[in-house]
Amino acid sequence: MDRYVVVGNPVGHSKSPLIHTAFAQQTGQQLEYSTLLSDIDCFTETMQEFFNSGGKGANVTVPFKQEACALAKHLTLEASTAGAVNTLYLDEQQHLCGHNTDGLGLVRDVLANHGGSLAGKQLLVLGAGGATRGILQPFLAQKPASLFIANRTVSKAEELASAFSALAEEAGVESLSGGGFDDLAGRQFDWVFNATSASLQGDLPPLPEGIVTQDTWCYDLMYSNEPTAFCQWAENSGAANVMDGLGMLVEQAAESFLVWRGIRPETADILARLRQS
Ligand code: ATR
Repeated sequence: MDRYVVVGNPVGHSKSPLIHTAFAQQTGQQLEYSTLLSDIDCFTETMQEFFNSGGKGANVTVPFKQEACALAKHLTLEASTAGAVNTLYLDEQQHLCGHNTDGLGLVRDVLANHGGSLAGKQLLVLGAGGATRGILQPFLAQKPASLFIANRTVSKAEELASAFSALAEEAGVESLSGGGFDDLAGRQFDWVFNATSASLQGDLPPLPEGIVTQDTWCYDLMYSNEPTAFCQWAENSGAANVMDGLGMLVEQAAESFLVWRGIRPETADILARLRQS
């Protein structure tokens, strides 16, 4: 049976085995998908052993996405711009290739599951870490009118904006810039994406009042069983629509499945099941 894993540390909590097993059943594919805990210092060895013993593909999660990027012989555009890989696969020559489906999954969740659109819109992204770097290329490809990156450490937001300026220009995006949370005062946005890890600690970046209007859609890349601090803030601010990252999780998995198996699974059933559990 073809073997796939999600590799991380920790990895026991991952929902990926459940999601991929459901995809396999639905599409009639014969495969086995499990978690693989790697020692922090042994990611390369863990992956070599897995692929040498016949493994077909791997999802990569915290803290190994950058290392996976360095390990892959070939990178897709999404992976090279993200500087991170969440999907490893072998090409026909058995070369290890790296792709990143996080941003693609987010955009697909926004468009297909929520019926939203990013084209021509004013986007705000909170945070300037790995999660933001991973979504910028797929976001810019949607041709928003503008994208502002706000971060606690202002220099990181500015650096990220300048690193992606050529891509923004290519896509015809009028404005891509970065700054601090104070710079948001007096501005309004069509979309606010939370890509900080603040939610994980139940924390919220210090956001000025007024950036959310009754037409603003808010999306937290994180998810948890209870509404995140960001989602609660968005509701209280009167946002038109408030979404968490569960759809992104399922859609990034579907994009990986497509790369490995050449078939795109339907996501609605598993998404509804995860929502209820
Ligand atoms: P990830 O890969 O999840 O993006 P990361 O690279 O460590 O993780 O980045 C975490 C992001 O969350 C950063 O933008 C961080 O801000 P700094 O660059 O200033 O550190 C942001 N972040 C984490 N905790 C935060 C908090 N309590 N308030 C605001 N921003 C926070």
